[in-house]
This record gives sequence, C-alpha cells and structure tokens, in this order.
Amino acid sequence: MIFYRHIFDDRIGAAGACAAFIAAALRQELAAKPVATLAVSGGSTPRLMFDALVNESLEWDRIHIFFVDERPVPPGHPDSNYTLCETHLLTPAAVPAANVHRILAERGPAAAVLYAIEIKSVFRKSTGSEPRFTVLQCGIGPDCHTASLFPGEPLINDREGLVGAVEVAKLHQARITMLPRILLNAKNLVVLACGQEKAWALDRAFHAPFEALQYPAQLLVHERDSEFFLDRAAAARLV
Ligand code: 6PG
Repeated sequence: MIFYRHIFDDRIGAAGACAAFIAAALRQELAAKPVATLAVSGGSTPRLMFDALVNESLEWDRIHIFFVDERPVPPGHPDSNYTLCETHLLTPAAVPAANVHRILAERGPAAAVLYAIEIKSVFRKSTGSEPRFTVLQCGIGPDCHTASLFPGEPLINDREGLVGAVEVAKLHQARITMLPRILLNAKNLVVLACGQEKAWALDRAFHAPFEALQYPAQLLVHERDSEFFLDRAAAARLV
C-alpha cells in the first residue's frame, strides 16, 4: 500500500495541513458532483483541524458530515464527538442541520442499525452505490486503536457490516463505530495524530508484522492508501 506521511513541527501545523487537504479533496469532489461527504473522528486531536476547516470557506450546503464513531452519550456531554464537532466546526461554519448526520449513540446498540440505514439512504440519493466517503478522517489511540475499533475487537475482521456496536472493556463503555468496509472504501482516508503518546502506536501501525486485531490502525496502513498528518512528537519512531 502507499501511504504519505506529512510531518510537522507541532500539532497546529499538522492540523492545518490536514484541514487544507480535506478542503481540497471536498472541492475536487464538488467540481464534479452535486454533493461531497466527510466523516470525522472524535477525541481531542480533531479540535484544531475543525477550527482550521472553518477558515477554508467551503460550500457547506453541498457537504454532508458524518461521524466515524460516537460514545454512548447525548449531545452536550463533554465526551460527545458530535459536540466537539458542533462547537468547533458545525456552528462556526453554519453547516446546514440537514447535512449533519449524528450517531444517536445515546440510544444504545440499536444506534448502529439506525446509522447504517442513514448512511445508505444518503449515498443511495447521491451516488446510488456503496457508501464511499469523499474524505474520511481517522485518529489513532495510544493503544493503536482507530475509530472505536480497539485491540481484540472481532469486528476488526468484519468486511460486511457498515456500522457496529462495540463494548470497550477497558473503558467500561459501549460505543458505535463505522466498520472497515466503510473505512477502507473512502476515496480519501486521512489520519491525524499528534503527541508523543501516539509514537508507539504509529510505530506498531507501520512497523509491526500485520496483525490488525492486535494493532487496529494497521488497517489504515496495510489495506489501502492513506495520508498521515503527524507532528514530530507522534512521528518520533518513524523518522
Ligand atoms: C474517539 C475517536 C478515536 C480517536 C482516538 C484518538 O471517539 O475517541 O474517534 O478513534 O480518534 O482515540 O483520540 P485523541 O485525538 O483524543 O487522542
């Protein structure tokens, strides 16, 4: 597989470059199609990327935003991936509410079925085919998880499902997550990872023998082309 590693002195540089790449890919899609689709991850790293995306002056009325995963909390909760995006992108960029597709994770495992239906309905309207996001942005956890696919999660090997409900034992938390069929089918897959706490995970993703069940982020390296946006601290074991 081909992967491109863009390494920056700090997280502001990495987040800004990631936002610029995402914006360019969305513009390219919109030059040829009526709508573009963007799926974003949560956690803390995307905050600076969202802030930078707001300044990219995109045609948000033609862009549909989805979420790669979500915690079992309602909007407004400090752990909500939706709320992070709402605060730093959806509201400041005035993204039309009809273009925002939130995971109803507070409803429990049923939210996975509901979200798969919503994804299929949007893609059936626009492309009539397999859900293929214009851009899908992933992060990486210190344990090499990505999306909410944590080490040992059997759904890492699922190539049929679109969205799954997972139990994250070490967090004592259920989550809803997009599955590899969607992650691997994106037109552009970008990975944003910053901080020395990601150095081991990136080293495993790129250098450990391929065993995605143990190192889920290897899905992003071994199974398709990806663009990595890293700060020097996260990339410490790669250079
Ligand atoms: C989540 C994310 C998850 C995230 C990594 C990195 O819901 O937590 O989608 O996959 O990308 O855990 O999180 P940080 O950016 O907080 O390090």
